[in-house]
Amino acid sequence: MATLDLLVIGSGVSGLSAAVRAASAHRLRVGVITKGQLHQTTTRWAQGGVAAVLGGTDDPDSTDLHLADTLAAGAGLCDLDAVRVLVDEGPVGVSDLIALGAIFDRDHDGDFMRAREGGHSLPRILHAKGDATGAEIERALVVAVHDTAASLVEHAFADSLLVEDGRCVGVRYQNAAGDLHEMEAVHVLLAAGGAGQLYSVTTNPVEATGDGISMALAAGAALGDIEFVQFHPTALHHPSMPRPLLSEALRGHGAVLRDSNGDRFVDELQPRDVVSRAMMLTMIDQEVDHLYLDATGLENFAARFPTIHRSLQVVGLDATTDLLPIAPAAHYACGGVITDLRGATTLPGLWAAGEVACSGVHGANRLASNSLLEGMVFGPRAIDAIAEGVTGAEPTGAMRTVLTPDEAAVRGKRLAPPPPPRWGPADADPGEVRREAQNAMTRGAGVFRDADSLAETAAVLDRVAAHVPAVDRDPAWLEVRNLITLGRAVVAAAASRTESRGAHSREDFPDTSDEWMLRQVMV
Ligand code: SIN
Repeated sequence: MATLDLLVIGSGVSGLSAAVRAASAHRLRVGVITKGQLHQTTTRWAQGGVAAVLGGTDDPDSTDLHLADTLAAGAGLCDLDAVRVLVDEGPVGVSDLIALGAIFDRDHDGDFMRAREGGHSLPRILHAKGDATGAEIERALVVAVHDTAASLVEHAFADSLLVEDGRCVGVRYQNAAGDLHEMEAVHVLLAAGGAGQLYSVTTNPVEATGDGISMALAAGAALGDIEFVQFHPTALHHPSMPRPLLSEALRGHGAVLRDSNGDRFVDELQPRDVVSRAMMLTMIDQEVDHLYLDATGLENFAARFPTIHRSLQVVGLDATTDLLPIAPAAHYACGGVITDLRGATTLPGLWAAGEVACSGVHGANRLASNSLLEGMVFGPRAIDAIAEGVTGAEPTGAMRTVLTPDEAAVRGKRLAPPPPPRWGPADADPGEVRREAQNAMTRGAGVFRDADSLAETAAVLDRVAAHVPAVDRDPAWLEVRNLITLGRAVVAAAASRTESRGAHSREDFPDTSDEWMLRQVMV
């Protein structure tokens, strides 16, 4: 097969909207590889929606307000220009998706319905099929990419980036039969999503094992903000994994949080980090492992939130009469592979977009429903840059903290990645090792961390690594190696940041420090 112009790794909103833009607007020869089936991505699980200000004559909302809310949630570490791009270009991203066939919910007058979520000063969240926004977006994009891409390879586990003369030229992957292949391309876009599976309790699907971030780290690309792992406050407290999500939109519609005495204890519409912390403190104080979401006052629950209604039915709960047991669960990697405002990474030829990336839009804590938005804005932006002939990273967005660390508004501090783990021998079961690593991350590097808990977590990760084969190509081992590699990096970044900010709460350093108004760059 002729070399591709663009190879996209990952098939969520960022990867597929990029692939479709590349093939249809720029006539590039595009290939997409993905670990499972095309639709099997974290995007599909997104409930709440897409934060976007579409405007209108009597709309009190504005992109400036959306910008201000995003900056406030990001606790001082957002890149202002990146957020400006996000909020200004978001409406175009929404229109592009509608043009591809995505259907967002509208009222009887044909206007978009808009919900409110935590950290938003006004209702501005567009949604689809009530609470199935990600699934609807993914559906439309999968149809579009089938029509446009030159090559789609499913069940392909990308395990390393091909780098020649300092440039990324493709990827090595393993197919479902276990055969190794290489796919070359002039440009590679990493859109492989996040890493919720670092933790034993997560809303992320089993595929979210940080493969993209680990692979980029191994290839020498700079990472940023990886200590900021966002926990979603309202995951259903239930043994099933991933934890069923109870969308933030429920609180936007009036659902409230209750402690074990039935009392309210926090303003439910604060940003996620604030609510998750308040919940953890209440749980510790009351010596309980869950609290409650009270959605009994919501009207037309089953019609407005059909996905959640069905998942509650499965576990025998009825939101109109039952208090819903909840606890925070790992949800989103605010950091990732550092990019500039057009998706270029520090490795020429490699671009990144979506949850795998750190463009500077989320800072220390992502604002609700800015994630689908980020994917639909920054995926296509990278493609437009490629089509214009941009060849490398510029000092914009989070990349400023790498290329001009002393001058950037958010300064950069370099942190060396932990030395590679000592693998082997293979004398354990990959599932057991994975669980042990996840449990250690949840205990020691979760909503709260401190120096001792992080050191203990690092020690467990090192200990379990010694039972992981260095070369076994079983996908279960590939995932475990990625989880341990990334987990050690997250722990190192969290141990280094001796303050509390956004989604990073240190019990031994509870205050936010002006000296830490900087982005840690792991390279
Ligand atoms: C939710 O619906 O609460 C999740 C949306 C998001 O992660 O922003």
